[in-house]
Amino acid sequence: MCGIVGYVGTEDAKEILLKGLEKLEYRGYDSAGIAISNHDGIHVYKEKGRIASLRDIVDQSQSATVGIGHTRWATHGVPSQLNAHPHQSTSARYTIVHNGVIENYEHVRRDYLSDVEMVSDTDTEIIVQLVEKFANEGASTEEAFRKALSLLKGSYATALLDLEDPNTIYVGKNKSPLLVGVSDGVNVVASDAMAMIQVTNEFVEIMDEEIVIVTKDDVTIKTLDGVNVERAPYVAELDAGDIEKGTYPHYMLKEIDEQPFVIRNIITKYKDDNENIKLDENVRQAVLGADRIYIIAAGTSYHAGLVGKELIEKIAGIPVETHIASEFLYNMPLLSQKPLFIFISQSGETADSRGVLVNVKKLGHSTLTITNVPGSTLSREADYTLHTYAGPEIAVASTKAYTAQMAVLAIMAVDAARASGMEMNFDPLQELGIVANAMEIFTEQKDVLEQIARDYLSVSRNCFFIGRAADYHVCMEGALKLKEISYIQAEGFAGGELKHGTIALIEEGTPVIGLATQEKVHLNLRGNMKEVVARGANPCMISMEGFQEDDDNIVIPKVHDYLTPLVSVLPLQLISYYAALHRGCDVDKPRNLAKSVTVE
Ligand code: F6R
Repeated sequence: MCGIVGYVGTEDAKEILLKGLEKLEYRGYDSAGIAISNHDGIHVYKEKGRIASLRDIVDQSQSATVGIGHTRWATHGVPSQLNAHPHQSTSARYTIVHNGVIENYEHVRRDYLSDVEMVSDTDTEIIVQLVEKFANEGASTEEAFRKALSLLKGSYATALLDLEDPNTIYVGKNKSPLLVGVSDGVNVVASDAMAMIQVTNEFVEIMDEEIVIVTKDDVTIKTLDGVNVERAPYVAELDAGDIEKGTYPHYMLKEIDEQPFVIRNIITKYKDDNENIKLDENVRQAVLGADRIYIIAAGTSYHAGLVGKELIEKIAGIPVETHIASEFLYNMPLLSQKPLFIFISQSGETADSRGVLVNVKKLGHSTLTITNVPGSTLSREADYTLHTYAGPEIAVASTKAYTAQMAVLAIMAVDAARASGMEMNFDPLQELGIVANAMEIFTEQKDVLEQIARDYLSVSRNCFFIGRAADYHVCMEGALKLKEISYIQAEGFAGGELKHGTIALIEEGTPVIGLATQEKVHLNLRGNMKEVVARGANPCMISMEGFQEDDDNIVIPKVHDYLTPLVSVLPLQLISYYAALHRGCDVDKPRNLAKSVTVE
């Protein structure tokens, strides 16, 4: 994971780099560092912990108009000041930051750097040492950089400073995301446009195995073989306001609240002038042409994929399998004759999903990415993309991206059903409008959910979420939300499965949250709740208007059966949020995690 930034212009680089890193903290926050280059030399500041800690140690009296920065999610080497980036070559001529994993670093080190004493435990250090070695052998910095990168296997988005050429940043990319932002007399580097949107909204995409030589007035892209590449910039559709918290205490709460707007935005984007579904004809044909759809995703996006399977099978009658990307990669099932692979990914950068994409493309299969970031790696590399239009999601715990993914899947399923001539009395655009209204009720009833979090989860060690059918998938998502931000051991279970083992964990006072929004199984689920109550559980019942009972804790407004997950997840998101808050956890940046998981 990790995030990198670079700046070369006329203003003081320190503050621009630090602000950029704050925007990238979602990519990792174990440690951070910057290097700035001025007439005095290269000055490196790095610290374990958050950007706030780094800010405290940066020497404010040093100013510079060139610099690079890094925020880290540790892969090789523990989080520490020593392993924090930037890293320097032995003579300190070269300074580097790097996002990615160098898979062959042991080999490279043995074959090329056996006489070099490494300072850190990181794989990154070999890059900067290789550049120095080749420069010492007579190569120019550009040649040394290209030669070093061409020896590496794995992923990198990397930026290098040369003490002898203080006004240039050398940048290289393979598999990890990287953009170069361009403007008049200032150019920038970033893992994500968000980090530098304050400086420019024009960005050039950098492709795998390319390097870029960035000065204040020029951006030169080359292949690793030194061949020049021309590429026009694009304008990033990003509003600086979208990435601010505004008056919210946490991004997660802001993003939960944004869900009704996101759903309405999706309706607008997928509606044509005649109020019909507007969908790329290529996507339609890809879906119609498939004899089986394989949904590939990780984490929350995988949970959206589980709901997506039900939607596509029930609505469009196409068989679907949903797979965890990291499992599918090394344990591929027998495939059908004409598969379509759908990759669901908020970030569009998840390495596990990309691994599958690369493999199935080699097999010649059709691919579609459903993502919140259209210029992302998965979007660029798949045949087609559907955009979820949720706006930047910054909190590590995914909320609005999940509901947006399910909304787009529902629209896609109905489009396919209609295109294949199936009778449809479910209008997703209209029904999603009802969903948006229902969502608003929860975002306005936070005190009830805060009280539930207080009553059930303030001191508990664990919590179970049980549901059946689509509710089961939402329970899995509710449990993931709770554990990742509050560190409470939580599991989502199929209501009927509990008695086959897991019920042994129920003790006096164990919180069990039951979800019953599905007409055909809500009574069975109530039966399962009685079973756990009989064993001492502390039950919290969430039901749906129409099948509620008097002492249910929360009643969800009635929405179409297909779309209940989009609404029933909201109380679970808010309960998790308040549980984490009451337990004093860092809601937006939970421990050990990062938002965009670009390592396998
Ligand atoms: C949990 C969460 C993760 C992501 C997962 C996949 O709240 O955010 O589980 O869903 O890492 O990420 P994307 O969707 O970016 O591929």
